[in-house]
Amino acid sequence: MKPINVLIIDDNKGDAFLINILLSDLSTKFNINVASSLADGIIYLKTNKTDIILLDLSLPDASGMEGFNQISLLFPFIPVIILTGMNDKELAEELVGKGAQNYLEKIDINTKLLFNSILFAIRRNQSELQYQGLFNSIPNGVILINPDLSFIVNKTFLEQFGYTSEEIQKKTIFDFIPDEEKQKQKERIFDGINGLVIPNIYEAQGLRKDGTTFPIEINPKIIELNNSIALLGVISDITVRRKLEIEIEKSRKEIADASKMNAIGRLAGGIAHEFNNMLNAIIGYSKYLMGAFDNNSEYYEDVKEIYHISKNAASLVSDLLSFSRKREVKLEVIDIMVSIQNIINMVKRSLPSGITLEYDDTFRENLLTIKIDIMHFEQIVINLIMNAADSMEDGGVIRISGKLLTIDNMIDNGFKSDELISNDYVQLSICDTGSGIPDDVLDVIFEPFFTTKEVGKGTGLGLAIVYSMVKQHYGLIRVISDLNKGTCFHLFFPSAYKV
Ligand SMILES: Nc1ncnc2c1ncn2[C@@H]1O[C@H](COP(=O)(O)OP(=O)(O)OP(=O)(O)O)[C@@H](O)[C@H]1O
Ligand SMILES: [Mg+2]
Repeated sequence: MKPINVLIIDDNKGDAFLINILLSDLSTKFNINVASSLADGIIYLKTNKTDIILLDLSLPDASGMEGFNQISLLFPFIPVIILTGMNDKELAEELVGKGAQNYLEKIDINTKLLFNSILFAIRRNQSELQYQGLFNSIPNGVILINPDLSFIVNKTFLEQFGYTSEEIQKKTIFDFIPDEEKQKQKERIFDGINGLVIPNIYEAQGLRKDGTTFPIEINPKIIELNNSIALLGVISDITVRRKLEIEIEKSRKEIADASKMNAIGRLAGGIAHEFNNMLNAIIGYSKYLMGAFDNNSEYYEDVKEIYHISKNAASLVSDLLSFSRKREVKLEVIDIMVSIQNIINMVKRSLPSGITLEYDDTFRENLLTIKIDIMHFEQIVINLIMNAADSMEDGGVIRISGKLLTIDNMIDNGFKSDELISNDYVQLSICDTGSGIPDDVLDVIFEPFFTTKEVGKGTGLGLAIVYSMVKQHYGLIRVISDLNKGTCFHLFFPSAYKV
């Protein structure tokens, strides 16, 4: 057996000498050191490996509990045996409750008692440390609640709830539960410590020291401890799991939306293609008939009407075809601010008089270039301007602006890195001060043929075309709408600007 390093802190030289004598009789070797004040003891402990401390309770520089408190604070891992005289036995008993391993009455001390006490204290201390190490290394938060509602927690619990081990001493178990759940949790805890049936596992909210809450999963168990029942709770922080669940749900919805759009697109495209052939025949024949009739003939105007209506129908079909990506795409690099200026000049006159178009060109000096089919770009912007105008029956403002964003800006805006394909994005925003879009409508605005407009006013293809064209150019769309305040359509295209 390795020699055992003992430190006696006792100012009574006689007592220290006696202990020394008693222990030197044994075959186990003891290295005994004596400090005659608490201060000397602390200095010694700081630089010398010590297996056990024998601490007298009446020292010149610390009396009663004080000495033990300081030692256990500074050296929590070294076991302490209290040495007592005639009049401090009660105090010694109290200190055993506070973590001292044992106490010995000086008048009773003999070799056997001393030896056994020391070995037992060292062993018990080791097993306590092992148990504590194990308890604290559990990656879940653990709380053990006694019937009197006193509790202990492990290190992970402290980390989860943001407390230090000192701070938590002053808390009650209800300080970890947000107000709205207090009643329910209280009932469960009382059921638990009264040995009643409690749920196997359940989800709840935890309340951190800083007042924030986080989702937790509690796995409670009623256990028997020291002849009484206690409630053990194993607590997992499920913030990450929750986030993932939301992400998965969002992706699932996105995939479902995208495949629905694809299916409708294919269907519309198929019909449009067939329909186009028929329309071309109608247009061809009506044109031929127009030529065949004299301008003054009573049939001429009727045929002309057939011709015009078929032409309109053909333009609708052409919209359908562009939505279903059946048209050939001609990519070129454009400066969006230059193109927008042209589009504004085109549409300005067709807007109702109460509507102003504002164009923010403070970002002009940035080259906002993207690679796109210019016809598509015009169609996207015109559709969004028309929708904005339609939402403002009593007039209002349409603001168009653009800016350059880095991939980090995009991520800050909430986009996921796996949906981004470029280091820089050009953002084009078209905002109005119109009616806004109710949440339930917002979910479906991009669906082909969805419209809230009267029959004859809208076909509901505008945004479906915008969506399909933006996607075709690897762009992203985000709509922010405030009821009765207005709507912003933000489009994000990979920048074509290369340094
Ligand atoms: N800026 C906006 N403000 C308020 N509601 C809008 C706005 N843009 C779109 N919407 C809503 O989305 C619906 C669908 O728009 P979409 O452009 O696809 O079709 P539409 O404008 O109704 O018809 P179309 O564009 O085919 O003539 C609109 O009917 C409207 O309810
Ligand atoms: Mg529209």
